[in-house]
Amino acid sequence: MAHWLSSSLVLLLCFAISTIAKPSSFSFKDNFDVMFADDHFKTSSDGQVWSLYLDKETGCGFQTKQRYRFGWFSMKLKLVGGDSAGVVTAFYMCSDLGAGPERDELDFEFLGNRTGQPYTIQTNVYKGGVGGREMRHMLWFDPTEDFHTYSLLWNNHTIVFFVDRVAIREYKNNVAESNDFFPNEKPMYMFSSIWNADDWATRGGLEKTDWKKAPFVSSYKDFNVDGCQWEDPYPACVSTTAEHWWDQYQAWTLTDSQQQDFSWVGRNLVIYDYCNDYERYPKLPPECALHSD
Ligand SMILES: *[C@@H]1O[C@H](CO)[C@@H](O)[C@H](O)[C@H]1NC(C)=O
Ligand SMILES: *[C@@H]1O[C@H](CO)[C@@H](O)[C@H](O)[C@H]1NC(C)=O
Repeated sequence: MAHWLSSSLVLLLCFAISTIAKPSSFSFKDNFDVMFADDHFKTSSDGQVWSLYLDKETGCGFQTKQRYRFGWFSMKLKLVGGDSAGVVTAFYMCSDLGAGPERDELDFEFLGNRTGQPYTIQTNVYKGGVGGREMRHMLWFDPTEDFHTYSLLWNNHTIVFFVDRVAIREYKNNVAESNDFFPNEKPMYMFSSIWNADDWATRGGLEKTDWKKAPFVSSYKDFNVDGCQWEDPYPACVSTTAEHWWDQYQAWTLTDSQQQDFSWVGRNLVIYDYCNDYERYPKLPPECALHSD
């Protein structure tokens, strides 16, 4: 504990020096702020890999300085290995800095597991503070062994969750008149964080976090945003220019090859879909009628 804290100071110092000596391609400080627990955040000496630490005291998180409305948001993550039951790492976009009651949110959540048991990835969509739209997938690789890319495509027609460029979830804006379920008005920050969720995450809360294994570490690199940075006044982020490919017609639906991958994922890797959960929703939410095909 004390050891990694002091080495993190050294690393932070190196980071400061290296950014002065050599302007790096991408700087954490220019684009992000640590949200909480600065001493649980570390960067590699070249500044390119960031790590979040969770121990019994606290987790940690960071957020973009800017808000965006629509675009492509992507990050490489390497998740906590070994015994990670109870630990959740999230990569998400949210309109609020706190968990406000009216927030819009798009979530990737990685739910840890006991050693050798597979991670699951949970996604969710909130509109105006209303979520409850979970899906859970198995992955086709071990996300703790190496970095993999997790991305969101967001425009006014669709929200697509990608893993290594494979579309795992598509959330469409198909009801022209009603806008109760599709987040498209509020600009969002991008966040990532690690925390203890052993009250629900692993086998419904039965598997508890083993604090003897702390600290738990998730690592990040290659943040990439190609989106519309929000500027007041609204609606500064509506664009029709060809550079803004994420808004263009081609990005409103999946391509044929994306559709093939997506169908394969749907047949093989989905372990939970709220749209099939009739116990929870005897009357399914309206968007469920639209997204099945
Ligand atoms: C987004 O789509 C809605 C329909 O769901 C439409 O009313 C609205 O004008 C569109 N907004 C933009 C910015 O294209
Ligand atoms: C953990 O592993 C068990 C057993 O393989 C599996 O049923 C479960 O979905 C996994 N993930 C979580 C988050 O519990």
